[in-house]
Amino acid sequence: MTEAIATAAPVPATLADLIRRFEQACVSGERQLGTEAGRVPASHYINRGHWQQEQDVLFGQWPIVAGHSSELAIGSALPFDALGVPIVMTRSVDGRARAFFNVCRHRGMALVASPASGPAMAKPCKTLVCPYHGWTYDLDGHLRHRLHAETFDGIDPATLNLVELPCDEAGGLIFVKRTPGPPFSAADCLHGLDQHLLWLGLADMKVFRKVDQVYPANWKLTADAFLESYHIRVLHRDTIYPFFADAFAVNLYAGPHQDSLVARRTAFEPFEPPRDRKALCKLATPTQFLFPNSFLIWHPDYVSLIGMFSPAPDQVRWVHTMLIPPDRTGEEWNAHWEKTFDLIEKTVFQREDIASAVAIQRGLPSGANTGLVAGRLESDVLGFHRRVDQAISGALVPAG
Ligand code: FES
Ligand SMILES: [Fe+2]
Repeated sequence: MTEAIATAAPVPATLADLIRRFEQACVSGERQLGTEAGRVPASHYINRGHWQQEQDVLFGQWPIVAGHSSELAIGSALPFDALGVPIVMTRSVDGRARAFFNVCRHRGMALVASPASGPAMAKPCKTLVCPYHGWTYDLDGHLRHRLHAETFDGIDPATLNLVELPCDEAGGLIFVKRTPGPPFSAADCLHGLDQHLLWLGLADMKVFRKVDQVYPANWKLTADAFLESYHIRVLHRDTIYPFFADAFAVNLYAGPHQDSLVARRTAFEPFEPPRDRKALCKLATPTQFLFPNSFLIWHPDYVSLIGMFSPAPDQVRWVHTMLIPPDRTGEEWNAHWEKTFDLIEKTVFQREDIASAVAIQRGLPSGANTGLVAGRLESDVLGFHRRVDQAISGALVPAG
């Protein structure tokens, strides 16, 4: 046995099983198909009442991926507005990620400014100092200082700490809930996928680039595009299809989430069972869907973390963060990663996947389709919408 194999981290049993099923499917050439075709009601993409229910339940009560752990260094603050309320995440010297409403307890000013456009990046800081009158908070949310404190007669400073939001980290991701409430366990919420992410090395990755843009399409249309590989052959014919098999993926469900292996063409040539991320990513693109709105896509040498948020029924706020391996950071790698990011973000995602979602959205009010049809190669699209409905009705709740 070689040293590399002897020291490799053991593959989590559920991921090992997925890889085994993937290998068998590639050898047999049999596609994994769902059990039924169906339709997604068109109203689910345009109806304001449906959108409001999603806002109240999915984006209001579920833990949502707010960033990668590497975005928030110790002694920094990162604004996060994608859930429709101003939030700031901090990491104090105890190493814990926390989230608060980004709202001063004096007269409500934002403590950390969000950029007018483009992605928010963390700012190094020892405290949060309100830019209006200078009230100062520790990174754990405690009010530390008020100018002319003696003038606030009868107002107890202990009631003026920042309003904290549930926040936890697992697998290299920071999760936040938009509504104040009891703490939750991000690891429990992931139903074991945190172990998959750790094995793949997500926690060690570093943020390289991030885009944050709004497009005129319902957020579920972009999610749909990442839940089936049926479109790769046509929509991505000139970009990524040369590297991928036609509509060939194997997946598992972990609670409401999914982990999929989308087959690359190399998987149909003889191969050694993959023992690490690099070997696996040569054969397949591991893709995790973290319900309700986040995807991780493992390209051969980097990762896309994508959050799809919903500022309005006909808008998606697309936040794409490129994560690179720790041994490929530094000046000498910048040109390579810039080029790579442009290819995936500006070409494949913006011109192909997002552009399709926008075009579909434009056609929905025509009434040509009362429902969007999905075949057995797209059963995960149907499953996703079913889980959205279950969550809205209260039949599906987050674990942890
Ligand atoms: S609003 Fe923040 S110090 Fe006045
Ligand atoms: Fe696509």
